[in-house]
Amino acid sequence: MEQTFVMIKPDGVQRGLVGEIIGRFEKKGFSLKGLKFVNVERDFAEKHYADLSSKPFFGVLVDYIISGPVVAMVWEGSNVVVTGRKIIGATNPADSAPGTIRGDYAIHISRNVIHGSDAVESARKEIALWFPEGPIAWRSAVEPWIYE
Ligand code: GTP
Ligand code: MG
Repeated sequence: MEQTFVMIKPDGVQRGLVGEIIGRFEKKGFSLKGLKFVNVERDFAEKHYADLSSKPFFGVLVDYIISGPVVAMVWEGSNVVVTGRKIIGATNPADSAPGTIRGDYAIHISRNVIHGSDAVESARKEIALWFPEGPIAWRSAVEPWIYE
């Protein structure tokens, strides 16, 4: 089944939003396949956001991601990449709909609380980068109550 990489950024951790954010993915019915609480090194953050290395805000973005510990997760489910991005909301919290994580908990684009992979292929790369040991393989007992 499809998997995505989700990271609660340092502001989400500092503001005590870890439980709330995990709860939203859990209650939707997605299945947790990887979870770690880590301090990110600068070169690792640069690797994670390599696609944005030419952007003017790249340095500020990397500083932000390494400013405190983050919660790195793998979530699994049907269409989890696209649906996960919907749960997270638009990049700029000024445009994120209420009811989304960024819409409910963020104001500024460079303090937007959470990251989610933007495509199946980037999810695959990000999961390999953050979880080289691989996600945990297990099957939720409630799956028949979530999928036909
Ligand atoms: P991520 O899930 O974090 O990858 O966000 P995204 O996919 O919604 O947006 P994108 O990958 O384009 O940008 C990555 C991150 O860079 C965003 O989440 C913001 O934190 C930051 N960012 C994006 N655009 C801007 C910008 O114009 N200014 C600033 N300061 N930060 C930005
Ligand atoms: Mg992105």
